[in-house]
Amino acid sequence: MTDFAHLGVHPKIIKALKGVGITEPFPIQELSIPIALSGTDMIGQARTGTGKTLAFGIALLQRITVPADAAWEGDPAGRNPQALVMCPTRELALQVTEDLDVATAYRPAKVMTVYGGVGYEPQLDRIAKGVDVVVGTPGRLLDLLHRGDLDLSDIKILVLDEADEMLDMGFLPDVEALIEATPKERQTMLFSATMPAAIVSLARTHLNQPINVRAETRDAQLTVPDTTQFVYRAHDLDKPDMVGKILQAEGRGRTIIFTHTKRSAQLLADDLKGRGFKVVSLHGDLAQASRERALEKFRDGKADVLVATDVAARGIDVTDVTHVINYECPDNELTYVHRIGRTGRAGASGIAVTFVDWADMVRWKVINKALGLDFEEPPETYSTSENFLVDLNIAPGTKAWLKEPEDPYQVGLSSRDRDDRRGGDRRGGRDDRRGGRDDRRGGRDDRRGNRDRRGGERRERREEKPAEESKPRESRQKRERRRLRNGKPVEE
Ligand SMILES: Nc1ncnc2c1ncn2[C@@H]1O[C@H](COP(=O)(O)OP(=O)(O)OP(=O)(O)O)[C@@H](O)[C@H]1O
Ligand SMILES: [Mg+2]
Repeated sequence: MTDFAHLGVHPKIIKALKGVGITEPFPIQELSIPIALSGTDMIGQARTGTGKTLAFGIALLQRITVPADAAWEGDPAGRNPQALVMCPTRELALQVTEDLDVATAYRPAKVMTVYGGVGYEPQLDRIAKGVDVVVGTPGRLLDLLHRGDLDLSDIKILVLDEADEMLDMGFLPDVEALIEATPKERQTMLFSATMPAAIVSLARTHLNQPINVRAETRDAQLTVPDTTQFVYRAHDLDKPDMVGKILQAEGRGRTIIFTHTKRSAQLLADDLKGRGFKVVSLHGDLAQASRERALEKFRDGKADVLVATDVAARGIDVTDVTHVINYECPDNELTYVHRIGRTGRAGASGIAVTFVDWADMVRWKVINKALGLDFEEPPETYSTSENFLVDLNIAPGTKAWLKEPEDPYQVGLSSRDRDDRRGGDRRGGRDDRRGGRDDRRGGRDDRRGNRDRRGGERRERREEKPAEESKPRESRQKRERRRLRNGKPVEE
């Protein structure tokens, strides 16, 4: 078994990782860190939850020069970033920043997040004071670049996390414009759990003789083997009851429920609240501060159910997510892999439940085939079906709520809402790339609107104390990691 030292990792990074219980590299880290440290371009593919963030994170942190290094020259104030990481969502950009912060505990580097939906000033202030690594979403990054506030001419390392998504149509123009602004002789690294061949060939135009690194054999399943998958043909009207029962299944911990539209995410969240569950929602109709608060509550255990659109499908890492429920059939096999990849992370086991409507049967079959799954004909299933209760460990007689909804007809999804979701408006409420995510339009809206909101709200959230009854709690290591993130340990 190799350790991080044998891979050539800097002792201070090893020490920082040890502080949060990370002592042995995961396979993708073992394979890619030596290549990445040598400065070679690479495409890294490994299943969800297997440590890709540190695979590129360790290498990029080590390859930049920081003022604490003997090799540092020049004035630290006003220094330009040397590494740029692009992510598809704001929440993922924040999470990657936190992971990098943990690793820099003993060799300080200034890592900052550049993302939309929040005021410009705090980001501009930080850039002006000098920064080593920028993690960001394309919309705001491009905005700052065009305004002349962000200088990418010193970038030595460029990473596209969730690379297949970043190079997909929705993001491509912005991402390419950003790549253009970086020096040609940079190192470029792409990482994702999914890498369709078409995207790989497109990616090659931005890479210089890249090495492909894959943590599993080529014919291995893209889904995580320790996650048990269940697929049911379900009726729209019965789905809330099915969810209500799953939320009381034996061994149910944190649960993420994915819906197709922002509107159905909110409606389902409200419905489940009415049934007595501790629910938060995350989708593009919410203000950025609310999105961050929701995820924070979910991470802290103040809520143990997160209802989200695909804005939470990629990269988001929350410990002890035991169940993922696809309330509606995902768009395609990539989305399926990433959504259910929110459970079964870092060696944990997980349960993924997918509801397929009659209308989505064809779409489901395509997904099933593309991933080589065994659910060609999902069984027609109801909240009272024996197979459902047995599969998911739901005790006989379990009700579909914790507390009886005051008026079940008010709480459930109204027929008008259902019609909306199924009808021509289907795309309208979706969190697609041009809507709920960080896009150029989002960035522009910001400039007009939300300017100074962020500072105050961030502080408010930081000061929130964990509720006594918070359950499930994060693991000790994870708590420690969060503590380190909030107040870094004193330097050596
Ligand atoms: N070497 C390690 N030992 C123990 N835990 C680790 C190690 N490397 C990473 N982890 C933990 O594993 C979890 C998953 O890591 P990460 O988020 O990087 O996965 P990922 O491969 O990027 O997944 P996704 O494809 O969903 O983005 C994180 O909680 C991380 O802290
Ligand atoms: Mg990741």
